Amino acid sequence: MIVITGATGALGGATVDHLLERIPADRIAVSVRDTAKAWHLADRGVRVRQGSYHDPDALRNSFEGAEQILLVSQNDPDSDGITLHRNAIEAATAVGAKRILYTSHQNVRTDSPFPPAAEHAGTEALLARSGLAWTSLRNGFYSHSLDWLLGPWQQTGVIAAPADGPASWTARADVAEAAAIILTTHPQDGPITLTAQHAVTFADIATTATQLTGHTITRVILDDDRWLTDRIAAGTPEHLARMLLTFFHAARNGHFAHTDPLLTELLGRSPHTITDLLTNRITA
Ligand SMILES: NC(=O)c1ccc[n+]([C@@H]2O[C@H](COP(=O)([O-])OP(=O)(O)OC[C@H]3O[C@@H](n4cnc5c(N)ncnc54)[C@H](OP(=O)(O)O)[C@@H]3O)[C@@H](O)[C@H]2O)c1
Repeated sequence: MIVITGATGALGGATVDHLLERIPADRIAVSVRDTAKAWHLADRGVRVRQGSYHDPDALRNSFEGAEQILLVSQNDPDSDGITLHRNAIEAATAVGAKRILYTSHQNVRTDSPFPPAAEHAGTEALLARSGLAWTSLRNGFYSHSLDWLLGPWQQTGVIAAPADGPASWTARADVAEAAAIILTTHPQDGPITLTAQHAVTFADIATTATQLTGHTITRVILDDDRWLTDRIAAGTPEHLARMLLTFFHAARNGHFAHTDPLLTELLGRSPHTITDLLTNRITA
């Protein structure tokens, strides 16, 4: 059996959808914090179990019978993610699971200005010491995050943001499909990097947006402090604005520039592109 955590979230939920196209529903279970949000999965024959990374006993029960577990990384910046993920790895070990897939981030390193990188690095170290087979999905930066980073360019005609660097913006939907493929037919070992085929800068995105809209979209580089002040004044909570700023600090040092062909190989098609994302936003 395959147990999917975070199945009431976007990536976990989409992975279950892809699994249902590949294997019988009775080989799939989900471990979710709130089972009431997962009745649509129960209706499709998936076993719905209650589990939280904060509750080792419930987690163990929810992992019962698991051969493989997709461990979706927790997303609360105020929680100690490494401790929570340790709870999940220990629960997986206790029930005799054979393999954990963990949703990590591209270019995991402990010295990154982007805080989730250290949490992922710490979790990967735990996985490496766990004695279980493990796969770390080092996913490219999710392309929909651009909605928070580019600002209201469709209204203003300007992408005003701090200096950036190339990033291999990757569609979360593609990563979910790849996760289902790895879980069912193409097992992978250790850290693997799943990204779109090309890395682009905000200047490249402005050029593409200009071509797609027929209007000039200009890239303007803002000083970090000016951008932060503007974002907070526009209503972004300060801790979130500061977190978003760390993207620029890491990107301008090339942390998200790497691309890898594996996602294309697993999907058997080209992953979604920035042109796809912008077209979607323009026609929405
Ligand atoms: N590569 C990137 O650019 C990028 C960007 C953003 C996030 N991420 C990471 O990728 C993960 C999946 O992304 P997503 O878009 O699917 O996020 P999402 O929609 O917010 O889903 C996160 C899931 O994790 C579950 N979760 C959070 N804390 C938990 C805990 N303590 N115990 C059990 N379950 C917990 C949530 O449960 P509920 O449904 O109960 O809330 C939710 O189902 C995120 O959690 C984050 O770590 C990566």
